[in-house]
Order: sequence, then structure tokens, then C-alpha cells
Amino acid sequence: MCLSDRERGVKPLNARKIIVGVTGSIAAYKSAELVRKLKQQGCEVTVVMTPAATEFITPLTLETLSGRPVATEFFPAARRPEVLHISLAQWADLLVVAPATANVIGKVAAGIADELLATVIMATEAPVLFAPAMNAAMYSNPILTANISRLRQYGYQFVEPEAGELACGGIGTGRLAPIETILEAIEGLLSCSPQGTEKLIQRGSSELSGKKVLVTAGRTEEDLDPVRFLTNRSSGKMGYALASEAEKRGAEVILVSGPSSLPSLPGVRLISVRSAEQMSREVKQWFPRCDVLLMAAAVSDFRPRNKTTSKIKKQEGLLLELEKTPDILLEIKSLKGDKGVGGFALETEDGLTNARRKLKSKGLDFIVLNAPTALGADANQVTVLGADGKTERLSQMSKLEVARGILDRVVGLLRTKCSDS
Ligand SMILES: Cc1cc2nc3c(=O)[nH]c(=O)nc-3n(C[C@H](O)[C@H](O)[C@H](O)COP(=O)(O)O)c2cc1C
Repeated sequence: MCLSDRERGVKPLNARKIIVGVTGSIAAYKSAELVRKLKQQGCEVTVVMTPAATEFITPLTLETLSGRPVATEFFPAARRPEVLHISLAQWADLLVVAPATANVIGKVAAGIADELLATVIMATEAPVLFAPAMNAAMYSNPILTANISRLRQYGYQFVEPEAGELACGGIGTGRLAPIETILEAIEGLLSCSPQGTEKLIQRGSSELSGKKVLVTAGRTEEDLDPVRFLTNRSSGKMGYALASEAEKRGAEVILVSGPSSLPSLPGVRLISVRSAEQMSREVKQWFPRCDVLLMAAAVSDFRPRNKTTSKIKKQEGLLLELEKTPDILLEIKSLKGDKGVGGFALETEDGLTNARRKLKSKGLDFIVLNAPTALGADANQVTVLGADGKTERLSQMSKLEVARGILDRVVGLLRTKCSDS
């Protein structure tokens, strides 16, 4: 076991040597805040910028904030005795690329080192953390997905971008993660060992190798006014356990999660959403590229028909008008083909009858009927109903054990579909 620096009362970032790599994204200006915060925490910071990054923010800004020269040129005009990319690579305790463009991720995944930052990344043995930022269509491009997955297999770490308004217009996933989240990830990577994490991830079984599994988790939040929303008590534990177990079995996992306090899972691509509408949009975008969907999220069935832009004033009483949210499983039913789809149901009465109805109406391969006490709990007692008419009641067990049972079923399902085709 490894005690964190925090547990030992040590400030994990103090006196650590950090390279902040900045690339050509519109979010490059946010790197200034990251450098400032790292300096405040006692880090030594060297900024390395790609030539494209210097179009977005000046080296002078980052030089002033870091208090050290900014490295931008692979072949500087003033020759130095040391080989710059090697001395930087050896100097760093950790390298964070924030923002990271699709380009730099692609280059490193392909082993290309054609400018200073990509070369330092290739040459360093320190942990490397990428914080991607880009347009939503770029972020969901399957080439980028494959590049991220490849880098993760080599132990490179990622802080997922957020969903929200994008600088290029529109709404989607691609906004640079908040600086606080990036700082937490840096602390996490540095707090176990001065050398950082192991580069190579030990993978578990490979039953799902080559398969893409889409998992939804957590609750949704449906806004009523700028400060209030409708939600439920789902913690995300079941969905995260499924995502973790699928990843251990070798699948490429995309986790679309509503608000949850659970830490992100290494090797799992996290797409954060808030509302049922956002979850529906992401599922529809990813589902066509996946082999399996496990819909464990507790999606709100209703949302306020009108969201006010100002806070609703205190008053004697208030009648709320609610409308239906998108029914995600119904929406994707026509796209199912031979994909495996499992849903979840939580009922307070007539559980089996209602779950069977949902299984049929949504064309699922199986449905997991939760105990009403499952929301937020660590353990669950489920009954799994299959499209083949079989019903299996599992005993009370941890959500991770439930996830293992469900993934066993998924593996069996994919084998059957494969042998049928
Ligand atoms: C205004 C503008 C904004 C851009 N924003 C991004 C971005 O947020 N993410 C991204 O991956 N590429 C973005 N690009 C494209 C990159 O700048 C381009 O791919 C460049 O080659 C990246 O080089 P680098 O990775 O070496 O920094 C943007 C380009 C322009 C002109």
C-alpha cells in the first residue's frame, strides 16, 4: 500500500519539477492559470510550447508566470551545450500537456517526434498527463479515440475534457477540464512515488479485447432555474463498476456519466454530462461505434417544462409543470442490429412484471432489476431477466461482484451473436 503525501502531511507538489506543454488550441490561454497555480503550490515549472501554441498565447506571458525561459524551438538559434529535449526530459518529475491538441496526441501515439514538445514527451521517463481540448467533432473522431486508447495502454494518463459550450460555437464534449481537476490529477500522479506511475498498465483478461463497450452511469440533473434542479440519489457506483470490469477484460470503454463524486477510472474514457438531454446526445453519438451498451444511469424521466433564467422567488406555493425527457433506450432501439444492449430497472412495486415489459418494449438483450435500496449503496441484490425468457436472481453482493456477473453475461451474449452470424 502506498500512503499519499497528503496522508503523510507533505504537500505533494512542493518543489516538484513540472513541464507544462502547451499546444495550439484556443484553450492555450488557460495554461497561464495552470502555471500560476503550480507555482503557488511550490513547483518549479518549465513551459514547452509548440510553434502553433505561440500563435495563441505569447511565450512572454508564460515566461513571466513560470519565472523560467520558455522552450519553443527544437533548433534554437543560440546553440546550447546540452541537448535540450533530453535535458528537459530528464529534469521533469511530471509532464502535463494542457491543452493537448488532437495533433499532439496523434503524433505521440504514432511515435512522431518532429518538434520540441513531442520529442520531450517521447524522451521522458516521467509520467505524462494529457488534458485534451478541442471541438466536439474532433474529440469524438474515432482516430482520436484509438490514439487515446493506444496511449493509455502505454500508461499515459488523461484528464477528460468537459461537456459544455465550446469556443468554436455549439455545445459538446471538448472543453479543457477545469484547472483544479488537472491539478488534482497531477497531485494524484505524484503522490504515490517520486518517480510517478508505472508506464505499462498490467491488463487483466482479454475476453473483451477488440470490443467497444459504452456504459452510462450516475444520475442526471434537470434544471428548474439557475440554482435548482430535479435529480435522484444515484451515486454512479454500478455504472463505474461495470466500466472498470469491462476495461479489465480488455474492452475499450466509454463511460457517459452524470454528476458523480467517484474518481475517474484509469483506461476508461469518461464523458461527463448533466442532463438527460446531454446523456441522450452522447449515447446516440457513441452507440453506432460500440459493440455493447450497458445503460446503468438513473436518467430522470421528467424535467421542468420551462427553465427560468433567474432564480424563482420564494412564494406561498408553486405549481411545477414537468415534461418527459428523451427515452434513450427507445431512441437507439432502431440502431441496435446485433449489438448487445443491457438496461437497468428500479421499481418499487411489481418489479418483475415492469422489468419484463421494459425488456420487451425497448428490445433489450437483458435487463437488470435493482433492489429499491440500491441507489447510492455499495451492495445490490439484482435479478437479471434475459430476452430468452430466463430469469436469474443473484444474492446480495457488492456492486463490483454484480458487475462481474453482468460482464460474464455480456461475454456469453457476444459469443452467441458471433456464432449466429
Ligand atoms: C483558431 C484555432 C483554434 C484551434 N483550436 C484547436 C483546439 O482547441 N484543439 C485542437 O486539437 N486543435 C485546434 N486547432 C488546430 C491546431 O492548432 C492544429 O492542429 C495545429 O497543427 C496543432 O499544432 P500543435 O499540436 O503542434 O500545437 C485550432 C486551430 C485554430 C486556427
